[in-house]
Amino acid sequence: MSDPLRGFASDNTAGASPEILAAIAACARGQARPYGDDELTGRVARRLQDLFECELDVLLVPTGTAANALALAALSPPWGAVLCHRDAHVANDECGAPEFYGAGLKLVAVGGEGATPDLGELRAQAILNRGDVHAVQPSAVTVTQISEAGAVLSLDEIEAIGALCRELGLGLHMDGARFANALVALGCTPAEMTWRRGVSLLSFGATKNGALGAEALVVFDRTLTPALHYRRKRAGQLASKMRFLAAQMDAYLEGDLWLRNARHANSMAARLADGLARLPGVSLRRPAEANIVFARLPGHVSRGLLERGYLFHPDRREPGCFRFVTSFETSTAEVEAFLAAAGGLASSRG
Ligand SMILES: Cc1ncc(COP(=O)(O)O)c(C=O)c1O
Repeated sequence: MSDPLRGFASDNTAGASPEILAAIAACARGQARPYGDDELTGRVARRLQDLFECELDVLLVPTGTAANALALAALSPPWGAVLCHRDAHVANDECGAPEFYGAGLKLVAVGGEGATPDLGELRAQAILNRGDVHAVQPSAVTVTQISEAGAVLSLDEIEAIGALCRELGLGLHMDGARFANALVALGCTPAEMTWRRGVSLLSFGATKNGALGAEALVVFDRTLTPALHYRRKRAGQLASKMRFLAAQMDAYLEGDLWLRNARHANSMAARLADGLARLPGVSLRRPAEANIVFARLPGHVSRGLLERGYLFHPDRREPGCFRFVTSFETSTAEVEAFLAAAGGLASSRG
């Protein structure tokens, strides 16, 4: 194998939890019904119903982009608008998949602190051009939990956006690629963070937090379910050997593996943020809330770290600011070695 990657480029660079690998191996023998009619897929749906304390439907897909794009297509007609934050993954990192799956739906971006859509801007966009046949019709709002700025949406923020959606008849989607990291940060229940505050559809991520590639589209508004099944197949996202996605999700939820992994990732981010904030010339953009940290580094520090083989990404919007992501696999030793390297550079003249 080539040199292992170092640093904090993404939680996508992490491997997979051994429990999840074992579950895949365990279900790899013998026959199982295809396309989601297998026992494991049924078990995952029951587990998620228990976890979210409500009746719901579950569609497993292999990527977060598929979950998001299917969800938004389900919530909006082709002449509809889905309101999102301008930094949202759906708007910047999905190559137009929501518009493609949604047969032309339009993403309308708004601003907002911490990459959370601003309520006033959402309202203004949601009522703009209503009933005007020349304009797209606002149909849904999507939020990212945790946000692209590393912020955890508070229950009050979700409540306020949910209330606006209820008032104006809009669907509410949550991109929960890092749902577990947000949940352990808030210390609430999955129900409190979602349908109790008006979320109609959730992309429940597992890949970044220990799975190989498995995400669940969790459908609280079950009127959307029948069409979603056809949409998933038509989009080429209905896995024939669904049991392998289900095995991942099943093991992910078993014994709270998902919560343990997320707690670990968040604690590593807190340690990293704490260490970075102590270095001369370094400042955090915001305190670490979950597993993503943004920090401003002097040029010689960022260059020196990159030259030493550490990976991390520049922030798209602010030159000199960088994004660091921790995962379930990040070790204390890795964080400390990075901080030592950064500390050495920061105290040198550059
Ligand atoms: C906020 C957010 N949503 C969704 C995704 C899922 O994307 P993918 O299609 O790469 O699984 C990601 C991954 O980077 C993400 O950061």
